[in-house]
Amino acid sequence: MSFDRSIKIAPSILSADFANFGQEIQAIEAQGADWVHVDVMDGHFVPNLTFGPPAVKAFRPHVKTFMDVHLMIAPIDPYIEAYAEAGADMITAHVEAGPHIHRTLQAIKAQGVKAGVSLNPGTPLESIEYVLDLVDMVLIMTVNPGFGGQKFIRSGVDKTRRLRQMIGDRPIHIQIDGGVTTETAPLVAEAGADVLVAGSAVFKGGSVAKPQIYGENIRAIRTAAETART
Ligand code: DX5
Ligand code: ZN
Repeated sequence: MSFDRSIKIAPSILSADFANFGQEIQAIEAQGADWVHVDVMDGHFVPNLTFGPPAVKAFRPHVKTFMDVHLMIAPIDPYIEAYAEAGADMITAHVEAGPHIHRTLQAIKAQGVKAGVSLNPGTPLESIEYVLDLVDMVLIMTVNPGFGGQKFIRSGVDKTRRLRQMIGDRPIHIQIDGGVTTETAPLVAEAGADVLVAGSAVFKGGSVAKPQIYGENIRAIRTAAETART
């Protein structure tokens, strides 16, 4: 996949129908999703539990675009190989999840998949300064991770702007995750983000029987973000 800074919408399947992931993934891709965002939670790093490697492996054949696996787990290192083998195109690790983020990112790259590093809302940008050259993406959390449908934390906008400056002309994506809507997408797009994760704002009102609603939601977020950039 070639690098560009165009706006990409990555629906989080945390907001999909858990009894019907295959069709949900097909529906969001048919309706314009650029990436598919998979939120992995362990009930320890975050207070919720979601998908082990066998679940991610079951999603894989349905994803024709790009499967972005957001690990909210601690420890991370013992599970990197399993999530890579399950078919992740990118694995994102939280800087807060352990003392050795540099080693973790090296281990992700060693699996031949793209590597992302994520920052919780309370974590300063300086914590990733010395790993920037190891990553394909930085994920700025704009909610405290664990649940969909939370309110956007606005300090993420300034953090995004400063990160965009830190990155300069390096080919590193900036992803925003949490509370992305048609109201908040323009703020982060203007500040320099290019990959927008959205759970509730994409899935609200739609279903596999009414997939055109997903399309309307995706287009509305994309248009709001692109308009803010021009
Ligand atoms: C939060 C997850 C998000 C979440 C986003 O812990 O990482 O990906 O699903 O959901 P919304 O868009 O509803 O805030
Ligand atoms: Zn996420």
